[in-house]
Amino acid sequence: VKIPELQTLRASSARDRVEIVDQTRLPHARETVVLASAADAAHAIRAMQVRGAPLIGATAAYGLALALREDPSDAALAAAHALLVATRPTAVNLRWALDRVRARVSHLDLAARADAAWTEADAIAAEDVATNHALGKHGLRLIQRLAEERRSPVQILTHCNAGALATLGWGTATAPIYLAHIARIPVHVWVSETRPRLQGSRLTTWELRAHGVPHTLVVDAAGAALMRQRRIDLVLVGADRVTRNGDVCNKIGTYAKALAAHDNDVPMYAAVPSTTIDWALDSGDAVLIEERDAGEVLNPGGESIAPAGTSVVNLAFDVTPGRLLTGLITERGICAASASGLEGLFPEHAHG
Ligand code: MRU
Repeated sequence: VKIPELQTLRASSARDRVEIVDQTRLPHARETVVLASAADAAHAIRAMQVRGAPLIGATAAYGLALALREDPSDAALAAAHALLVATRPTAVNLRWALDRVRARVSHLDLAARADAAWTEADAIAAEDVATNHALGKHGLRLIQRLAEERRSPVQILTHCNAGALATLGWGTATAPIYLAHIARIPVHVWVSETRPRLQGSRLTTWELRAHGVPHTLVVDAAGAALMRQRRIDLVLVGADRVTRNGDVCNKIGTYAKALAAHDNDVPMYAAVPSTTIDWALDSGDAVLIEERDAGEVLNPGGESIAPAGTSVVNLAFDVTPGRLLTGLITERGICAASASGLEGLFPEHAHG
């Protein structure tokens, strides 16, 4: 099977730099940026040159490895970890990846640390591709069933970009879609534009086009109307953090899609690699929601769309209660968006 990957991140064989696609330049230009230090990696994440939970995690892992190349001391390790973990607060993959690399190297001799960190970052990147592919195969069964029962092409709504661009390959919400497309099951994707950063219109359309998947762009508010018009068979989204009880924190607007899906009996799933599950949090209420700059709302594309000085709250994410979702698609299978659903698939994390 050909992997739908867009070389979002390429680690050099000399282990001294990583090259990323600058996602702030898409869809106008496909430009790459070289990251040669932890500071470069931190900047790329903060500026959203790389974004999407799994890709943020992998970039931070390489950032930590780059820091250790310069200085493998405990103090440098702690400083780079602190710098990188503070770049964005919501996607748990960031902390997960940094903690994993730190745990791998902290007991090693200083001389061995940089190489071991790089090898661990490579493993995180490779596992992401495999995880998304596995998750995609479970999600594919949902699409297959809908193609048999309902109609063809299967009409799928997605929000934001939980695509190949947000990962090292396949994407999460898009993995079942790409596998269906490869299996010649006709699908059509409704892409929600995703104000204010427009990850849907700038990124998801770009990668669906690159892979030849039929799609149509709609404004965010159209999702509910399309569901009411019975034009959507399935809603597939990603996640930045899923809590123990199955609540899903994802791009702002996901909750509204879930309310509409629930009201219209449209099945809706979040695609959730286990790296996105925060077993330390009991409920979505505890997730720290990133608030971003007012300028993203007031001046999209550099042009002002509100009177100067207008007060803005720019929440980057929202929380969808698990009860509104049909289920979660993980690399181990599909489960209810609940504590018992998740613990059934991941018994090693069950309480008690
Ligand atoms: O602000 P972003 O672009 O990093 O937000 C991305 C999302 O909300 C994605 O849906 C999520 O990270 C899952 S990516 C596979």
